[in-house]
Amino acid sequence: MLSSTCTAAVRGLSTTAQLFKINNVTVIGAGLMGSGIAQVSANAKLNVVVVDSNQSALDKAQKGIESSLQRVAKKKHADDAKAQTALVSSVLDRIKMSTNVSDSVKDADLVIEAIVENIDIKRKLFAEVEAAAKPTTLITTNTSSLRLADIGLNLKDKTRFGGLHFFNPVPMMKLLEVVRHNDTSDDTFQKLMEYGKAVGKTTVACKDTPGFIVNRLLVPYMFEALRLYERGDASMPDIDVAMKLGAGYPMGPFELSDYVGLDTCKFIMDGWHKQYPDEVAFKPSPLLDSLVDAGKTGRKSGEGFYKYK
Ligand code: CAA
Ligand code: NAD
Repeated sequence: MLSSTCTAAVRGLSTTAQLFKINNVTVIGAGLMGSGIAQVSANAKLNVVVVDSNQSALDKAQKGIESSLQRVAKKKHADDAKAQTALVSSVLDRIKMSTNVSDSVKDADLVIEAIVENIDIKRKLFAEVEAAAKPTTLITTNTSSLRLADIGLNLKDKTRFGGLHFFNPVPMMKLLEVVRHNDTSDDTFQKLMEYGKAVGKTTVACKDTPGFIVNRLLVPYMFEALRLYERGDASMPDIDVAMKLGAGYPMGPFELSDYVGLDTCKFIMDGWHKQYPDEVAFKPSPLLDSLVDAGKTGRKSGEGFYKYK
């Protein structure tokens, strides 16, 4: 039987929406992405559990979600403080936090992994998730760059495994790349597309190829900007201004790298470089490496290419 929440969430969609039965979503990783994914899922009236191995990440996520919701609420109910408070608390009430993976995935219809971009850590987590989840649970990754076939190598049932690639900041970015690897079933893929629409995103389909669509184009561009700077051809602020005013991008490449997280940028490029050592577009950057080594990971640490308050 269809639940009323999901029926409402997908009203107006094609007949395939009738297959949509996701009520409980578990998001693993409470960082930049996990907190945003939790927010948009709860906003679509789904029950959400956010899991992180680090309690302080959960505390930070709670605050981040609340302040993001306040921005959304202010825009939606500009002159109505009561309605703003009601919106914020109704979404927050649907989000629970936990440090225990197994307990948190037991009732999940959909698990979305958004932990660090490291293949071994992700594989270990997926083994734990599959062992504890129901045999019908859809298991997905928000990886930026890793192949699903590699991440899901040890899953016993690969038909329920797919990719949900959100963009940062999740509440604002309208796109969701839905990724299928060779073993993703049609049913899983269709349900993931319906979930994407239910949380208000425009979905595009992509095969299991490095970087999918957006990052395959965006990340080499960000590193090309670094090479331009490392050659001394232009300053960072000038490159950023040039791309904003000359190409119409909302952020320049250095601002965007700081926004994404320099550690995440490094993990992406290191992985691709290892896999394709002769590809010049995938060459790592010594400057980026040194900043990450020094703990300067961008906005989230207070300093990256630029300093933040
Ligand atoms: N939650 C809720 N609302 C938010 C928000 C958030 N996290 N961030 C911004 N907003 C809202 C603000 O409240 C503001 O609303 P109003 O217009 O009503 O005032 C609006 O968005 C604009 O925000 P700002 O004025 O603060 O700043 P801005 O105009 O520069 O927009 C931005 C911010 C949306 C982040 C914009 O700069 C942007 O689109 N930047 C590019 C982001 C991008 O390219 N993301 C993709 C990164 S790659 C990736 O994610 C994939 C990967 O795997 C690495
Ligand atoms: P982040 O560093 O902000 O957060 C990662 C979180 O995962 C941290 O809170 C950490 O404590 C937690 N974590 C690490 N290992 C864990 C484990 N084994 N179990 C539970 N929690 C664990 O990272 P992020 O930017 O949110 O990126 C998360 C994922 O999303 C990565 O795969 C990244 O490539 C991808 N992604 C990032 C962006 C972006 O712009 N930052 C965009 C799209 C996709």
